[in-house]
Amino acid sequence: MDNNIYIETYGCQMNVADSELVMGILQNKGYNITGNIKDADVILLNTCSVRENAEQRIYGRLGNLKKIKEIKPATVIGILGCMAERLRKDLIEDKKMVDLVVGPDEYRRLPEFIDTAFAGEKGIGVKLSRTETYDDIIPFREDGLSAWISVMRGCDKFCTFCVVPFTRGRERSRTLESVVDEIKILSQKGFREVTLLGQNVNSYKDGNNDFADLLAASAKVDGHMRIRFTTSHPQDISDKLICAIAEHNNICNYIHLPVQSGSDRILKLMNRTYTIDHYLKIIEKARTIINGVSFSTDIISGFPTETFEDHVMTLDVMQQVKYDGAYMFKYSPREGTKAFKMDDDVPDETKTKRLNEIIDLQHQISFELNQNLIGTKELVLVEGFSRKSDDFMAGRTDTNKVVIFPADEKLKRGDYINAEIIRATSATLFADTVEPVDAVKTKEEIII
Ligand code: 5AD
Ligand code: SF4
Repeated sequence: MDNNIYIETYGCQMNVADSELVMGILQNKGYNITGNIKDADVILLNTCSVRENAEQRIYGRLGNLKKIKEIKPATVIGILGCMAERLRKDLIEDKKMVDLVVGPDEYRRLPEFIDTAFAGEKGIGVKLSRTETYDDIIPFREDGLSAWISVMRGCDKFCTFCVVPFTRGRERSRTLESVVDEIKILSQKGFREVTLLGQNVNSYKDGNNDFADLLAASAKVDGHMRIRFTTSHPQDISDKLICAIAEHNNICNYIHLPVQSGSDRILKLMNRTYTIDHYLKIIEKARTIINGVSFSTDIISGFPTETFEDHVMTLDVMQQVKYDGAYMFKYSPREGTKAFKMDDDVPDETKTKRLNEIIDLQHQISFELNQNLIGTKELVLVEGFSRKSDDFMAGRTDTNKVVIFPADEKLKRGDYINAEIIRATSATLFADTVEPVDAVKTKEEIII
């Protein structure tokens, strides 16, 4: 037998969704997906290149996998995803660390490349495509509550720090119909939440349908199913999209809207194409139109030429928006990007210091926002028992916050409850009284 595939996924949710696609493609060809690396004939790492440490992790992991190869020399080791094109030469020719390198637009041919590798050759497929969307592929998913659906691929924004336009290529969208069909299948299987994914979902286009149309069509499939989406670029977020979120009870009131920096000068150098004034106006508009909307963001500290004043502006914007959550990074130069040619002139310790200040402030803001929820009732989708104890169960609010509450034998995964919040940390809400509810009818009453 040489058909056991083990796949490890690094990086963003887009990669998680891609791994499901890859497993779908391989399963169709008769491969068996295993969760145990010891059984694997083929080990695939679905990689990320977005930040430097993501790549270092993969090199570290490949170092470990060498040992497996020493024990079982026939094992095929492959690299998928963003590192494929960038590091093909280094990984295959120079360091001879892997047998297979396949980029994000060549997964259909993966079975062929695996055969090549078993035959002792190197399997290489790293071409990017202008059209590949894997629209017809059914991803392999374990039964569950939440699914990620990639609705578009690539990015045309060319933020100067970002490798995605180079590793994932140009923007292209799936058809609205195929996304809706996928949601229907997930609904029938008992999924209660889908997240529509794209590097910049606001650029979604299928004929005359834009992302607001896709979101509305997705929401109509099953009123008990929560619809989330990520990521939105602040430049393109339309009034129509904001209204679509407000109009549909089951579209979550939560927008991931990366700001990256609070300084207009830095935003310009980043080619982010908006000003903080424009950004704050969007936030204000969304808050006026969508009841109880909350925001999360991405922030980079230490972009080239960032001064202390620029950094303070970032802290300022965080204070003004009061994000529910933030993904916070230290700038790392990525080869091939425009910023790579700039002088990476902010010393590492300054980057770290600024990043720590950003993280501390976010903790403080999350804590304050969560304290404000004490005494309120939140609509929670039950996910199951809490990780720490079977005496408690866990679920999530519409705004993606984890809520822990006493276990109740009448409750099961996928139920909606009304939970009264009694205590909160910066990361978690705790509830005592819970009552089952019908999500569709009650959301409006609860989230005020
Ligand atoms: N350095 C640091 N952070 C980066 N990101 C993307 N590229 C870089 C880089 N070179 C961050 C951005 C983006 C998120 C996915 O990763 O904040 O929104
Ligand atoms: Fe990268 Fe900018 Fe595209 Fe996001 S919008 S994937 S940061 S280029």
